[in-house]
Amino acid sequence: MVESKYTNKHLKTFNKSNRVVEGWYWALQSRKLKPGKATAVRISGKDLALFRTESGKVVAIDAYCPHRGAHLAGGTVEGEALRCYYHHWKFNENGECVDVPCLKRPPKAQNKTYRTEDHYGLIWVWVGQGEPHPLPVVPDLDGLEVDVAFAKPYVKNCHPNIVMSDAIDVQHFRSVHRIPGDILDLEGQQVDDHILHYNNVAGVPGKTMLGRLISRFYKTQLTYSLCYWHGSSGSVTVGPDFQRYHIIYANRLGDNGVSEGQVILLTALRKTIFGKIYSKLLLLATRIVSDYFADGDTPQFNTIDFDFKTPIKDDKTILQFISHVEGLPVADWGFSKPNAIDLVNVTPTSNMEKLGAKGREATCEAS
Ligand code: FES
Ligand SMILES: [Fe+2]
Repeated sequence: MVESKYTNKHLKTFNKSNRVVEGWYWALQSRKLKPGKATAVRISGKDLALFRTESGKVVAIDAYCPHRGAHLAGGTVEGEALRCYYHHWKFNENGECVDVPCLKRPPKAQNKTYRTEDHYGLIWVWVGQGEPHPLPVVPDLDGLEVDVAFAKPYVKNCHPNIVMSDAIDVQHFRSVHRIPGDILDLEGQQVDDHILHYNNVAGVPGKTMLGRLISRFYKTQLTYSLCYWHGSSGSVTVGPDFQRYHIIYANRLGDNGVSEGQVILLTALRKTIFGKIYSKLLLLATRIVSDYFADGDTPQFNTIDFDFKTPIKDDKTILQFISHVEGLPVADWGFSKPNAIDLVNVTPTSNMEKLGAKGREATCEAS
């Protein structure tokens, strides 16, 4: 048997937990970071302190103080800056030390900061060397104001690439979700160097009862379209022509190669009272759709040992996705060691209690 070139040992980026592809990664739900507050987040194996200045700007900064390494999320926001709790050195929004209480002039000390954006109800952090890409947007909602809600965050015991490959796995729709084979045939198209679209191109089968039913709601084929960014997050659009449902699965790498995900449910903003009620109902229905997709797949996400030894024709979408991810630029990111307190479950005390609680909240966000 000829060995597939898609096995783990032949891949350099796909499904690798020691590499982080350049892109926007979610940090926290925006509403959880109020002006004047700081919190700890761990994104793709690296610790950051996130703070919202008094004027509302979100700053992401390397977590460990350049003085002696205290976690800056334990500090206090002062105006547009953050003061470390340990010896009270103060850092501005560019990460520069601007005040040391026991010195007339602060030393040259600085921590790296990262671009952030508030978008679709989440704080996103740009991980990468170059100019940030445009933020992930659902193509159907591009340029529109939106209403968002969140389904339950998740942790899956596999890499984000594996989570994302599930939604384009046509075979599993037949086997796991019992969807008839002839209504789904996905075609992938790279629309930008970091964006991949998939659209259903199967014609609606007119001969069967199901086909006739479907053709009442869809002008052409059943709508199932996806937009993937950076190989780790993606939107799914489903639903009849008169009403589409939009879901984003935003993933980031966690420790030990797991995926930490946020499920964003979206619809176009409606401003009238009835419109708002309709939007709420729609987001509720979107959540049911999202749960349906997630339900059947969780068992395999939690046990899979992905190694693509035997691709077949029906795996074409996955093969295209793997090739795409293999071509994506890898960020110069660096990893922080996992927090031993989280590992041994020791209760932190005093000042660190606050920080520890925040740190765990960030970790448990996705649990
Ligand atoms: S460790 Fe931050 S001021 Fe000393
Ligand atoms: Fe599935």
